[in-house]
Amino acid sequence: MGAFNNFYSGRRVGITGHTGFKGAWLALWLRQLGAQVHGFSLPPPTDPNLHQLTHTSCLASHTPGDIRNLPALSDWIQRTQPEILFHLAAQPLVRASYLDPIDTLTSCVLGTAQVLEAVRIHKPDARLVIVTTDKVYENHAWEHGYRESDPLGGHDPYSASKAAADLITQAWRRSFFPQGRVATVRAGNVIGGGDYASERIVPDIVRSRLLGSPLALRSPQSTRAWLHVLDCLAGYLAVGVRLDGSPAFPGSFNFGPGPEGNRSVADLVEAFSRHWPGPWTRVPSDPTLHEAPLLNLSIDRACALIGWRPVWNFSRSVHETATWYQARHQSQSSDMLEHSVAQIERYTRDASHSGVAWIHPTVP
Ligand SMILES: NC(=O)c1ccc[n+]([C@@H]2O[C@H](COP(=O)([O-])OP(=O)(O)OC[C@H]3O[C@@H](n4cnc5c(N)ncnc54)[C@H](O)[C@@H]3O)[C@@H](O)[C@H]2O)c1
Repeated sequence: MGAFNNFYSGRRVGITGHTGFKGAWLALWLRQLGAQVHGFSLPPPTDPNLHQLTHTSCLASHTPGDIRNLPALSDWIQRTQPEILFHLAAQPLVRASYLDPIDTLTSCVLGTAQVLEAVRIHKPDARLVIVTTDKVYENHAWEHGYRESDPLGGHDPYSASKAAADLITQAWRRSFFPQGRVATVRAGNVIGGGDYASERIVPDIVRSRLLGSPLALRSPQSTRAWLHVLDCLAGYLAVGVRLDGSPAFPGSFNFGPGPEGNRSVADLVEAFSRHWPGPWTRVPSDPTLHEAPLLNLSIDRACALIGWRPVWNFSRSVHETATWYQARHQSQSSDMLEHSVAQIERYTRDASHSGVAWIHPTVP
């Protein structure tokens, strides 16, 4: 029996934002699971990007489009009839949300509402996994992890937009969809190969190594919940399996690393530097940009209800991330499709050995 009890094999799966970092990994993993993957997205947000390195064989169809365009989105849902839809498309960067808050708001809030509406009208029995973030919570810099029932907030335009998207999803879930078909998933800071976004720590480290210049760190002591992208996506996929209409299935899940992976930015840089050495230097923080000093997530609900927990610990996650970038940038002959598929296979084997329940779930 394959991972997720072969649930995804032969299924029509939609992804919005499949040209992005997480979306490209998700498309690749779903292809490995035998799904027919249909993507709807703006062009890749960066160059280079994982989508272009791996997409050729991943997708049953690829539709360029903007989730703010309801007719185009509706046409895509109507044509592809996804049985499960993973909604990832968004403007995902805090700093960009300060520079253009309205663009962030329309993409995260209006875009999510339109995804819900297009599905409600054209594929009302679809399972919907709506990706928000750990930043949806009202941040009190608590030592303990935020739970799914804690109040939502959002200091900056990105966080507030994602909190609004989460609330809108709960409203559509309660008002329009069959019970147990819709969930929001809230993950922490995801690391992994193939991310080239601006002002994210791992791509910043890689760029500094390639340029041979010191990495400039604004807040080295800030603590974040670092999670490998495959651990995060395993959670999303496990939720997709469980959205079978069971009325008791709750609407939101946190995915984070647990206490072991709550580390400072400096810890992450030091761990990465053990694989790909280079200097870093502290620079003054930008006073116009709010950075929460502490943000931890409680993952008890995901552990209890879908048998999810992280498979790769902090040092393994950093190792797999660093080796991906080294293969891409330090070896001329690397085939990144092959390398990425091998990483998914390694992860799945480790998950199986670690005995996590999502790998062969028993759906009640
Ligand atoms: N990477 C992280 O650490 C992290 C953490 C928490 C939550 N998230 C969330 O995960 C999701 C994916 O993030 P990512 O890191 O892969 O980001 P990314 O920028 O790499 O990908 C975003 C994707 O959305 C698409 N997109 C953006 N606006 C769109 C629009 N208006 N219409 C259609 N497509 C649009 C982009 O083209 C791209 O395919 C986002 O919803 C983000 O908020 C990411």
